[in-house]
Amino acid sequence: MIEVARDGAVAVLTIDRQDALNALNVETLTELRDRLRELADDAGVRAVVLTGAGDKAFVAGADIKYMSGLGPDEARAWGGLGHEAASLLETMPKPAVAAINGFALGGGCELALACDLRYASSRAKLGQPEINLGIVPGWGGTQRLARVCGIAVAKDLIYSGRTIDAEEALRVGLVNAIADPVLETALEVAHGLAEKAPLALAAAKSLINRSPAALGADAEEFGALFASADTKEGLTAFLEKRKPEFRGA
Ligand code: COA
Repeated sequence: MIEVARDGAVAVLTIDRQDALNALNVETLTELRDRLRELADDAGVRAVVLTGAGDKAFVAGADIKYMSGLGPDEARAWGGLGHEAASLLETMPKPAVAAINGFALGGGCELALACDLRYASSRAKLGQPEINLGIVPGWGGTQRLARVCGIAVAKDLIYSGRTIDAEEALRVGLVNAIADPVLETALEVAHGLAEKAPLALAAAKSLINRSPAALGADAEEFGALFASADTKEGLTAFLEKRKPEFRGA
C-alpha cells in the first residue's frame, strides 16, 4: 500500500510492502501512480518526498514473481505503468525528493532517478540488477541513469548489474548526499524548497529536465515569470531587505 502523509506543504509518500522489501506489484504501482497524479495537481503541496516503509528497503524493484508470468504485451503494459509513475515524479511542477532508506534496486532505483534530488542512508544499496534476470531497466533507467551519472557509469551499472553502497553512489553522483536518519534530512530539504517561489521552482525544474535541444527556451520561461506577483515580490523583497512571501501566483 501507499501511505500519504502531509507535513505542512510537504507530502510524504511511503511505499509499504515490507514482506517483499517494498517491491512493486500491479496493485502497489497503480496506487503509487494514482497518488502521484493527485499530488502533482494539488496546489497546496509544494514538495513531495518519496520513501519506503521499514528500515530495509526503499524499493527492491519490480515484483519478480509477477514478472515471471508475463508475456510481451503484458510486459509492455507493465513497463508503461512504471513509466507513468516515473514521469509524474519527473514532470510534476514541484520538486520530488527520494529518501533512500535501504535497497533501491531495479525499478526502485529508476523511481529514485526520476526524483529531482536523492538522499541515501549510510546503509542504502543501489543498482540496476535487471541484466541478472535477463531483462533491462524498463521504467526509464537507461536514459535517466546516463543523464544523472554519465554514460560510462550507466553502462558499468546496467551491464554488470552490480549493487553499489551509499559511498559509491555519492561518488558517482547517483545520490546528492548520505544522511542518517535519511527521512529527516529529505524532509528538511523539502521544507526548504517549499518556501521558494513555486512558479520559479517549477520553471527551473522544467528547464533542467528538457533535452539540450531545448536550449534557449529558458529566455521564454524567464520572461514569462515576470508576469507573476511572486517574481515582483522576490525582487522587491531583496531591495527592501526583507524575507519574500511567495504565494504561487
Ligand atoms: N520482487 C519480489 N519479491 C522480492 C523482491 C522483488 N524484486 N525483492 C525481494 N523480494 C522478496 C523476497 O522474495 C523475499 O520474500 P520471501 O520472504 O517470501 O522469500 C523477501 O522479499 C525478502 O527478501 P530476501 O531476498 O529474503 O532478503 P535478503 O536481505 O536476503 O536480500 C535483496 C535482499 C534485495 C538482495 C534480494 O531480495 C534481491 O536480490 N531482490 C531482488 C532485487 C532485484 O533484482 N530487483 C530488480 C527487479 S527488476
